[in-house]
Amino acid sequence: MGTQRELVDQRRENRAMVEGWPPCQLDALSRRLAGPPLVYRVKLGDVGVALGVALVEGWAAVSSVGVTLTNLAPMDINGASAIVTGGASGIGAACARQLAAKGAKVVIADLQEDKGNELAKEIGGAFCKVDVTNTDDIINAVEMAKSMGPLRVLVNSAGIGWAQRTVGRGGYDTAANLDAFRKVLAINLTGTFDCIRIAATAMSQTEPLAHGERGAIVNMASAAAFDGQIGQAAYSASKGGVVGMTLPIARDLSAVGVRVNTVAPGLIDTPIYGEGENSEAFKANLEKGVLFPHRLGSPDELASMVVECVTNSYMNAETIRVDGGIRMPPK
Ligand SMILES: NC(=O)c1ccc[n+]([C@@H]2O[C@H](COP(=O)([O-])OP(=O)(O)OC[C@H]3O[C@@H](n4cnc5c(N)ncnc54)[C@H](O)[C@@H]3O)[C@@H](O)[C@H]2O)c1
Repeated sequence: MGTQRELVDQRRENRAMVEGWPPCQLDALSRRLAGPPLVYRVKLGDVGVALGVALVEGWAAVSSVGVTLTNLAPMDINGASAIVTGGASGIGAACARQLAAKGAKVVIADLQEDKGNELAKEIGGAFCKVDVTNTDDIINAVEMAKSMGPLRVLVNSAGIGWAQRTVGRGGYDTAANLDAFRKVLAINLTGTFDCIRIAATAMSQTEPLAHGERGAIVNMASAAAFDGQIGQAAYSASKGGVVGMTLPIARDLSAVGVRVNTVAPGLIDTPIYGEGENSEAFKANLEKGVLFPHRLGSPDELASMVVECVTNSYMNAETIRVDGGIRMPPK
């Protein structure tokens, strides 16, 4: 312990340091302190100094985040065009609606003409009949999007489910159907990659936004990429492939300012599970495994994460599970 005089001098020096801090440093410090801005004890030299008052100014800027996020620079998609594959139904349709609500001109790229046209009309977008296993169809959708605004967003939601055990009880003929395996990979994995390479080529030719940003891509994987169930070899392989290619594609596209993320849904209440009594019973059984909340997810809950991945400029090269905490059991 120093003398009384030394303590007083030390306190004066500490106060001068705090008061002399440039606002950006106060701001940075207050941001590092989680929780309410009451009184924080900070050790400066040998003496503990109550910094509550000094932090108020810096904290005020931070605690107003609920009102204005001064340091958040989301990618502006207002007036840009977006493509949503599988956009006529389920998660894709919810994404199309939420992107349109942010001002994007959305091209719904799907096989289902009636539902696709209806939704396009509802959200002021356009429908393009696309089979994601066909490159010419994908190019058509990209050209359509380019005519509506600079292409900045691609959401790959087109996908199919398939379940079959790897071996049957009879001879070789009862082993899993290899054509079905190839089809699931062609749509869910190769189709996703084809859409990315074509759309990203168009994005790379757009004028960059702030910091060289040109666009964002979000893929739809599945919890089955990590916890595939019995019979899900093809589906899990396709979604695991989507997860696996997220990082290398994000690395490739960093050169042109395009971010790439993947969302892995758990059990989401969409037409993918079919309709009618059997489907309801099936879903009721599935939701028992959801950690919390004990229900299936809604397409909007998924779409909200997709939109965050699109607009949050610091979100890149990641796969995010949105699944209520479920870890799928073997069956
Ligand atoms: N619903 C879930 O629980 C769940 C869980 C995990 C992952 N996913 C994935 O989310 C995505 C969306 O699924 P959903 O639940 O909304 O299903 P959904 O059946 O409601 O929608 C899928 C859409 O993809 C379209 N599609 C299928 N094959 C296509 C092709 N070859 N070309 C173009 N469009 C095609 C369909 O016409 C349909 O409109 C899929 O990739 C699916 O694998 C869904």
